[in-house]
Amino acid sequence: MSTQRKKFIALVDKAMDDGAKMAPEDLMFSYKGILYPSTVCSPETFKALESFEARDDDVFLAGYPKSGTNWVGQILTDLVTTSSKHTENFNRVDDEELEEFPYLEVGDAEKYQRMENLPSRRVIFTHLLPHNLPASVLKSEAKILLLIRNPKDVATSFYHFSNGLSPLPTYKTFDDFFTAFMNGEMPWGSYFDYVFEWNKHADKKNVMTVTYEELKENRALGVKKISEFFEFPLTDEELQEVVDRSSFQAMKENSTKTHGAMGSVLFRKGSVNDWKNFFSEDHNQKMDMTFEERLGGTKLGEKLNYGVYCKA
Ligand code: A3P
Repeated sequence: MSTQRKKFIALVDKAMDDGAKMAPEDLMFSYKGILYPSTVCSPETFKALESFEARDDDVFLAGYPKSGTNWVGQILTDLVTTSSKHTENFNRVDDEELEEFPYLEVGDAEKYQRMENLPSRRVIFTHLLPHNLPASVLKSEAKILLLIRNPKDVATSFYHFSNGLSPLPTYKTFDDFFTAFMNGEMPWGSYFDYVFEWNKHADKKNVMTVTYEELKENRALGVKKISEFFEFPLTDEELQEVVDRSSFQAMKENSTKTHGAMGSVLFRKGSVNDWKNFFSEDHNQKMDMTFEERLGGTKLGEKLNYGVYCKA
């Protein structure tokens, strides 16, 4: 896969420096009713984003923060880079000048102009709600991989990430964090809204849903399904290499090169069920009730297999 992560690391390191100097109340700003980190997002970039033109062959990854987007993002990027070896685009894919921060809504307002020069197939990650994406994305035929993870592990992961990184709010206790999470006072908004809104798109033929838990259970099968969905022309051997490079261990070991200082916070446990170490009976009751109210009976709610992954 591409080793050119200089711009990624520079942006993240700068956000950490800036976040450390900022007053806690300035770390987030609200845009169209949703909170975003001021160190990496801005209203100017959101306005410029409206002009973004999706291509039919773009490769999108949509996922709520802490659902494993860096993991599945690496898998997708690796699949595209490996596929490009079969085409004439190979040299361009590894061109450092053409690197952009992979999350669509993160960066400066000029990035969308620069993205027009990126070779196909572009790999684009996003945490945005579907109706906050630029109109061209859902109008295009671009395929979207939708990644979801059980809400208890998402919350546990988010708590540690927030407390470990200066650009995000710090919480004195897990209970304080839990209240904010349940109220949707998180960067990129509410988990429940996210899954509820994306559920409206889950039946489309260009949307494939994958869960963090199913990938943990059988990464080789997950990578194969993802590759087939996007029609990447990889050999079985190449697919196996992508699988090997995306183990938690391999990614954690490589994380200083791929994610800079953020790596040690991001690659935390990489497991299913760590929530059991943080959720009280009261947290469980509240989460179980809200899940049932908001997502019970929906296609994505079923896919999350709440009874298996979230029942105490
Ligand atoms: P934990 O905090 O539970 O360990 P995101 O990339 O969306 O921010 O999600 C981060 C979560 O994905 C973290 O969860 C991280 O450890 C996990 N993760 C990252 N790489 C992984 C991998 N290769 N396998 C399993 N989980 C991974």
